[in-house]
Amino acid sequence: LIRLDSSLALTGRKVLISAGGTKERIDPVRYITNDSSGKMGYQLAEVARDAGAEVTLVSASGLPNPFGVSVVAVESAEDMFVEMNKHYQESDIVIMAAAVSDYKPDHQEKQKMKKTSSNQEMTLKMKQTKDILAYLGKHKQHQYLAGFAAETHDVARYAESKLQKKKADMIIANDVSNPQAGFNKDTNEVTIFTTDKDPISVSVRSKKEVAALILDEIAGKLRKQR
Ligand code: CTP
Ligand code: CA
Repeated sequence: LIRLDSSLALTGRKVLISAGGTKERIDPVRYITNDSSGKMGYQLAEVARDAGAEVTLVSASGLPNPFGVSVVAVESAEDMFVEMNKHYQESDIVIMAAAVSDYKPDHQEKQKMKKTSSNQEMTLKMKQTKDILAYLGKHKQHQYLAGFAAETHDVARYAESKLQKKKADMIIANDVSNPQAGFNKDTNEVTIFTTDKDPISVSVRSKKEVAALILDEIAGKLRKQR
């Protein structure tokens, strides 16, 4: 059940959310991306808006802009890094729901790459992108910082380790090998890991309901701090 009641009051809070899968360009007409739709991030943005928050959505997704949400469109992990940092200082709650590419082409061709009969094989050299969540964690001041963890195995172990390594306050883990959870689905099944509580298991339900539970948990935490 959705608890869209007064317990989910985010009035006056500034919420910054990233969503979608980043695109890493190889040349002007080609890129590398992933299966993320952006749905989870967009649901978080809409639920936060409905709870009275001022919401900025840094989006690498092609979904239509939600009403009443300030949307900043980005393409690459680097673009997302820049935009998240631009809005970080003023934000109260920051949620990295985007599937950020871990690697990008080592360099981007200015012109469309041509095939030649001598190039029957080609190798693409990749380098790691910046870890945005880890960077935000390292530079955290007053913000409540949450991230996601997409796992296919050892979910709890990896989620706990991401919580620690990235200095996040919350990691929402989803088992992407579950057909009812994760990439491009309308439903999700997650476990919420925080630094100060036992993990909360959330059984399969709509991404909107999952978003409401996540924000309810964060709102409760911020209320206690006041
Ligand atoms: N993330 C990020 N910047 C990156 C990679 C990931 O901000 N360059 C964020 C994601 O938005 C997510 C969290 O880190 O909130 C965890 O992402 P995930 O892909 O599950 O973990 P990684 O740390 O990238 O490790 P791995 O993919 O190897 O599991
Ligand atoms: Ca990753």
